Amino acid sequence: MAKDVIIACDFPNAEATYEFLGKFRGRKPFVKIGMELFYSEGPDIVRKIKDAGHKIFVDLKLHDIPNTVRGGMRSLSSLGADMVNVHASGGTAMMEAALEGLTAGGGSERPIIIAVTVLTSTDAARLRGEALVAEPLEKAVEHYASLAARSGLDGVVCSPLEAKRVKSVCGEGFLTVTPGIRFADGSADDQKRIATPEFARENGSDYIVVGRAVTAAADPVAAYERCIAEFIG
Ligand code: C5P
Repeated sequence: MAKDVIIACDFPNAEATYEFLGKFRGRKPFVKIGMELFYSEGPDIVRKIKDAGHKIFVDLKLHDIPNTVRGGMRSLSSLGADMVNVHASGGTAMMEAALEGLTAGGGSERPIIIAVTVLTSTDAARLRGEALVAEPLEKAVEHYASLAARSGLDGVVCSPLEAKRVKSVCGEGFLTVTPGIRFADGSADDQKRIATPEFARENGSDYIVVGRAVTAAADPVAAYERCIAEFIG
């Protein structure tokens, strides 16, 4: 499994996305399609970007009763996504159902399925004060990661600050996909648990997910190259 940089294409519509990807002139970065784009354009956007030669992480973070998530994943499996996800807080029965749905969909190669542990926009104060989780944040991430592993999932979404810990609990082969990436000289925006691409490399992330540090950069292609250089070398 090769390490890679995934660009979060959080754009309002297909035109803005194609205009952005056009700047890469023949290079085909791994892209993430999230709620904003998927809900405005529908599943066709996944097929089109896939046909253009990109790998795609469809980031819809499913979280519902097991039967609904099983069906949702069965539908998603036909789109040709390379990676999909659920919220680990949905529980083991829901994660197992997600995996069943993805497998039942019967695409040529099952997409990687990962679980969100604790969103990188959440800090310890919110976890304790709003979600009423009394355990320390790192412990919650570790717990969710082991539930995902037990459910047969391939890995988790977590902060680069937690990737090493997740690997030590769930094994080296358990994937860590890490958003919350910022350059040392960049702005944090709404993210709380952030790290640089270099830190993510040193701490064992398999994939970094980078949004605004690339999409809002004056020169997005240069910012992407910088991510590749710092994360992969
Ligand atoms: O712009 P920025 O780099 O902060 O974007 C991060 C992307 O990763 C967003 O698309 C966000 O939805 C996603 N994400 C996240 N934290 C998670 C899971 C996904 O920020 N735990």
